[in-house]
Amino acid sequence: MAKYFLNRKLNSLNTLEVEFSPKLLSELQLIYNTLPSLVKPDQFSSDDFALLSPSKWGSDIKWISNNSLNGYKLFLKTFQALGIPNYMKQIIDYEKKLILYMGQFITRSESNSEHFHYDWSKIMQNNAFTFLTPIFHIDDGLDLFYRDLDGKTRIYKYQLGKAIIFGSEFKHSTALGKSSEPSTILSLQFGTDIPGYTSQVLKEMGTQSLFYRLPDGNFYRKRS
Ligand SMILES: [Fe+2]
Repeated sequence: MAKYFLNRKLNSLNTLEVEFSPKLLSELQLIYNTLPSLVKPDQFSSDDFALLSPSKWGSDIKWISNNSLNGYKLFLKTFQALGIPNYMKQIIDYEKKLILYMGQFITRSESNSEHFHYDWSKIMQNNAFTFLTPIFHIDDGLDLFYRDLDGKTRIYKYQLGKAIIFGSEFKHSTALGKSSEPSTILSLQFGTDIPGYTSQVLKEMGTQSLFYRLPDGNFYRKRS
C-alpha cells in the first residue's frame, strides 16, 4: 500500500523535489513556442491541445492540455524521458505500470486571490501525483503557495531543471502577484493503474482537461 511520507525540508506531506537536465524539456519548449498557431484563440482549441481557464480563480491562469492521442503522446514522451515512472514506482501501488493521466502547460501572469485546493484527496491514498516544473524560467514568474504541516502558508519557488511532485492532501495555490510577462509551467498528472481507482481519478481530474487516460487504461473525453 502506498505510504504517506514527510518532506522535512518543505514541512509537508507527500511532496518530493527532483532535479533533471533542462535539456529533457527541449521538445516541449519547442512545441510550446508553436502553440499560438496551434491553439486558435477564437475556438480555444486545436486537434491536439485544448485551452481552458477557470471562471472564478481571481487570476488569468490558462490550462493548455492534451486533447488527442497525439497531444497525450507528446507529454508521455517527456514523462518517460524524465524517468518519473522509475522512481515513483517505489511510492505508488500499481499492477503493471504507472499511467500518465494527462499533460498540460499552465500559463499565468497575474493572481489576485488565493485558491487553495488539493489535486488529490485522501481517498486516492497517495496513489496519484502531480509533477510541476517551469518550461522557461523568468525571474518574477509566479510561484506556488502551499500550506505546511503547521497550517502556515509557504512559498515554493520554481527553478528550471527542478520539479515539485505532490500526492494526496497537498494544499496549494498559485502565489499572489503579477509578473512582467506570462510564465509557463509543465504539469503532468499520473499514478496507479489499479482499475479500482478509475472512478475516483475521473472524479478528481477536475475541469482542467477534456481528455485524459484513466487507471483502467482507457482514454476518456469529457463533454465541454
Ligand atoms: Fe492544483
